[in-house]
Amino acid sequence: MKKLITPYASDFGKPNVIIKHFPDTESYVQIPGINSFKNQKITIYHRLYPEPDKRIFELLLLLSKVKEQTKNIELLVSYLPYARQDRENKVGEAVSANVLCGLLKNFGVKKLITYDCHFLPTPGNFIRAGLKIENRSAGRMLYAYAKKYFKKEKFVVVSPDEGASYFTKHAEGLSHSLKKTRKSATEIHKMEGHAEVKGKNVCILDDIIATGGTIMHATKHLKELGAKKIIVGTTHGVFAGENIADKISRSGCAKIFTTNSILQTNSVHVIELSDKY
Ligand code: R5P
Repeated sequence: MKKLITPYASDFGKPNVIIKHFPDTESYVQIPGINSFKNQKITIYHRLYPEPDKRIFELLLLLSKVKEQTKNIELLVSYLPYARQDRENKVGEAVSANVLCGLLKNFGVKKLITYDCHFLPTPGNFIRAGLKIENRSAGRMLYAYAKKYFKKEKFVVVSPDEGASYFTKHAEGLSHSLKKTRKSATEIHKMEGHAEVKGKNVCILDDIIATGGTIMHATKHLKELGAKKIIVGTTHGVFAGENIADKISRSGCAKIFTTNSILQTNSVHVIELSDKY
């Protein structure tokens, strides 16, 4: 198996793909020594966030050359962007999750390996728009960090919505899933649901923190239910907006932790996924 590592995934090894930008910002991709990859199994390591449009196009340029050499292409991107628009809610809405998966399939990807993909209900193997996907979960690693954080103290694991409820399965003690209703893609209407958290420490686990609205509403709700210390862990720390991590801390979260699926500039604790690859 050969590895192709882009400069955006240099924490997985020495990059052997050249990506540059022309003065007008257009991308240039070169794979030196590509002829030695003939008929080999190739795993591509890349990141598609931030600047997803640009990173996706660079990936397509890369794939356009790799697929000339082999049909055996595996792609590892730990955070899959464009996954949240996964259905046509309003007439005429483009379903970006299908478009991206279809593109990858048509550009020769035999299997995509990703983590806690938003449109998939659980970890496991799936097919979307013809693309095979191995969906791994960082849930166990996030839970292990929470255990270390609380040392010998007990804590309750809470998922802020049904979609993330599979994160609670690692809990050795109590766990709950709250019920979230949205006003829009970026605004929460209501966070409800009973959770036995009175006087207890809580760890909220979710697949993504984007605007932080979900976590802040969940924190408020859990505080109202009497929670003691609240910490929050997420696989993908998107933190879309200014000072989102600070706002979450100010809302009452004692600790925010995430994986390196997205490289962080925020002051949050980062857990490496790399050793699992
Ligand atoms: C949604 O259903 C996901 O599991 C996350 O809860 C959501 O994407 C977080 O988004 P935000 O931080 O903008 O509330």
